Amino acid sequence: MLEQFEKIGKDALTALKKVTEPAALEDFRIKYLGRKGKIIQMLGRIGQLSPEQKPRAGQLANKIKKEVTEAFDRLKNTLLQSQEQTGELIDVTLPGIAVNIGKTHVITQTLNELLEIFGRMGFAVAYGPVVEDEWHNFVALNIGPDHPARDPFDCFYIDDNVLLRSHTSPVQIRIMEHTKPPIRIVAPGRVYRPDTVDATHMYMFHQLEALVVDEGVSMVDMKTAIAQFIHAFFGPDTKWRFRPSFFPFTEPSAEVDLLLADKTGKESWVEMGGCGMVDPSVFDAVGIDNEKYTGWAFGFGIERLAMRKYGITDIRLLFENDLRFLEQF
Ligand code: PHE
Repeated sequence: MLEQFEKIGKDALTALKKVTEPAALEDFRIKYLGRKGKIIQMLGRIGQLSPEQKPRAGQLANKIKKEVTEAFDRLKNTLLQSQEQTGELIDVTLPGIAVNIGKTHVITQTLNELLEIFGRMGFAVAYGPVVEDEWHNFVALNIGPDHPARDPFDCFYIDDNVLLRSHTSPVQIRIMEHTKPPIRIVAPGRVYRPDTVDATHMYMFHQLEALVVDEGVSMVDMKTAIAQFIHAFFGPDTKWRFRPSFFPFTEPSAEVDLLLADKTGKESWVEMGGCGMVDPSVFDAVGIDNEKYTGWAFGFGIERLAMRKYGITDIRLLFENDLRFLEQF
């Protein structure tokens, strides 16, 4: 009899181990701990025993009942708890979890605005490779072999003849090589120069190049387009000027300065980039008739435009990906 009791207890504990979900708990309870369950019936059989046998059998039966009941209760608790944790009980009244949506970088925003303005002025958008050859970056732009711009201190060379472009002007060459005038494009993109990094210099920055080629294009057209752009981008009252300059690929050439106030209200002239009438020797290099056609071009620094527009005083902030900074735009 005692051995039978022990076996019932063992069977019950083994069966309990197979219970892994709340729904199976009740089946187990009915089978072992219910009124007709095996454990309760076992207790009932003690009454049939002789007075000498009763005490030991009673003790054993009670011990088994206690063990199985406790194990059952413990399992019940853990199963119900994990049911809560796996979220099967959903509280639909809880507020949702807010999703952080990213936004475009301030340089991309500026670029989009620039392309929008020039789009309205009838310019198409062109792109060129960031890894350039000397022909497009220098030779076709009339930048001779001894020109200081070709110095390794001013360019990132990859090979004798291959470098990261140091300006967006090579896109002018690529367009003119395979497009017949009239041409009217802007070309945005990254450029690279091994400058020492400080508040206004970075080894990589962005330029916006423009190129217009047609019959009878004059410096007045260039001046008009630049004025329209500055007034659209910085406001109609913005003062600006041409300052005579030199570039091997334009003649005459000028630098564009803006008169802008800093945070304290103090005004100063700030250089935005270079421009000029396309040099006839550049037309020769790309096979465009320089008797028939004239053209103009400019190259503006996009970081400079953005920094001036938004009052950013350190170019490094634009590339550090600090959300506290980026979220302001
Ligand atoms: N490429 C020149 C620079 O990077 C700017 C420029 C472009 C000047 C087009 C004239 C015409 O400084």
